[in-house]
Amino acid sequence: MKNNLLFIGFMGVGKGTLARAFAQKNDLFAVDTDDLIESYTNKKIKKIFKKKGEKYFRELEQRTANWLAKNIDNTVISTGGGFYKVNNLKEIGTVIYLKADFDWIYNRLKNSKNAKKKIKKRPLFKSYSNAKKLYEERKKEYEKVADIVLEVEGKEMEQLLKELNEKLKF
Ligand code: S3P
Repeated sequence: MKNNLLFIGFMGVGKGTLARAFAQKNDLFAVDTDDLIESYTNKKIKKIFKKKGEKYFRELEQRTANWLAKNIDNTVISTGGGFYKVNNLKEIGTVIYLKADFDWIYNRLKNSKNAKKKIKKRPLFKSYSNAKKLYEERKKEYEKVADIVLEVEGKEMEQLLKELNEKLKF
């Protein structure tokens, strides 16, 4: 298996924020699968969903997973909320699930800086009920594929980094 760390979990749980903080602290590079897809296609995620649909976006996620598995090592990777469905997740690295209740995630996003923009750029976060339904469908799946589960709710970044280090014995 490759020496990457892969952060999975629901939209808005803080995968990118934690991945970047962890990378910085451990002198590693951090990349994000949505960013990779946007640079690969030269289009925004929202636009890809609108013009080509979700199925095509999932194909792009698989293509990204193949590229990561083949080319990337020693990197901290944050993923889109549905990336965990790719068929070679475990080949990419150690899978860390960031776990929190839906309402905590929803409020985190709602109360964040640029909240409107952050919600708007996520086509599957259209409404509270839509997003909650998706969360309920996925929450068991995230646990199933995870090597490590990190409870993130209400914790400061320093605490999260400490817990993650302990779990990884970094
Ligand atoms: C998605 C999550 C988004 C993005 C796309 C689809 C999902 O990423 O990949 O809008 O299926 O949950 P974030 O988890 O970074 O919001």
